[in-house]
Amino acid sequence: MAQSRIYRPWRPVTVSAVIEMVSPKTIARAADLLKSGALVAFPTETVYGLGADATSDDAVAGIFEAKQRPTFNPLIVHVTDTKAAAEIVNFTVSAQRLADAFWPGPLSLVLPRKAGSTVSLLASAGLDTIAVRVPDQTTAQAILAASGIPVAAPSANASGKISPTLASHVAESLGDAVALIVDDGPCPIGVESTVVDCSGETPVLLRPGGITLEQIEAVIGALIQATDNNVAPSSPGMLESHYAPNAVLRLNATSVDTGEALLSFGPHRLTGFTTERNLSPAGDLREAAANLFAMMRELDASENAIAVMQIPDQGIGRAINDRLRRAAAPRNAS
Ligand code: TXA
Ligand code: MG
Repeated sequence: MAQSRIYRPWRPVTVSAVIEMVSPKTIARAADLLKSGALVAFPTETVYGLGADATSDDAVAGIFEAKQRPTFNPLIVHVTDTKAAAEIVNFTVSAQRLADAFWPGPLSLVLPRKAGSTVSLLASAGLDTIAVRVPDQTTAQAILAASGIPVAAPSANASGKISPTLASHVAESLGDAVALIVDDGPCPIGVESTVVDCSGETPVLLRPGGITLEQIEAVIGALIQATDNNVAPSSPGMLESHYAPNAVLRLNATSVDTGEALLSFGPHRLTGFTTERNLSPAGDLREAAANLFAMMRELDASENAIAVMQIPDQGIGRAINDRLRRAAAPRNAS
């Protein structure tokens, strides 16, 4: 039987959600919608977030429903500053140091829930800790300030899929579920915040991200690494599938097979592909992180298989490799 090759052209996107370019009026509307319990997608320096009032069980339930996210996976709560964070969690010494060094910025701190914290238990998946983050993005800050509430916001994509770095990505993946998508162009960092659990005696790196391991260790010393980076090369089956494109991803490629698109990094001499995206022709890891998700989406739309060149596993390269390994991991049933 002849092998049929599925052709997947760019889909015309039918969007019912309102995308609005950022303006004072849009920020006020976003804040009002959040206060009324609606879902609002907004930009941060890392990725677009799907925001809801973190103090409302109903609003938070809307996030889990829209993303089809398992309710045992807790959300990050966004606030304007350390003072606002201290109203919902108890700071430890290491957390205070990290907040002083990196907030506002792409770092989420997991800390013990403060007695009397108004944050919905659903947001923290019933845990006695809450992940808090102070974003370094003007529009995100303006929306948080105007709403005056802590805002739970996971990445604004369907659970397990590629995170959005453009407003149009949000519209494609969650358009129907959100009341408003605030557009402020591409997210400059491009990978999610680093998540550090500071609730125990020794801080634990739960997710590599925009603030590098090297930067964190320079402030608080050695961390325990709970990421599966160390098991990934030998047992990819251990990895949770996440950031999953439809196409099959092949990592550390040194050649390109027939039918594969190429996701490259830096200068190279590979041949044999028709479609290529270069994360950073100059070999700059920051630029590569900023381009990662948008380029994965583009290649996913044009080919069924993607060969990915090796990315140096240092600095923000660790976050890139974490996302690529999860994108290449065997898919969950869900
Ligand atoms: O950059 C970011 O962090 C983006 C933007 C929108 O701020 N948000 C984001 O959220 O990536 P999300 O939900 O996609 O990822 C949250 C991560 C998950 O891995 C979750 O398991 C972990 O943080 N997390 C949240 N609360 C936690 C807690 N109390 N204890 C341990 N891990 C937690
Ligand atoms: Mg996510």
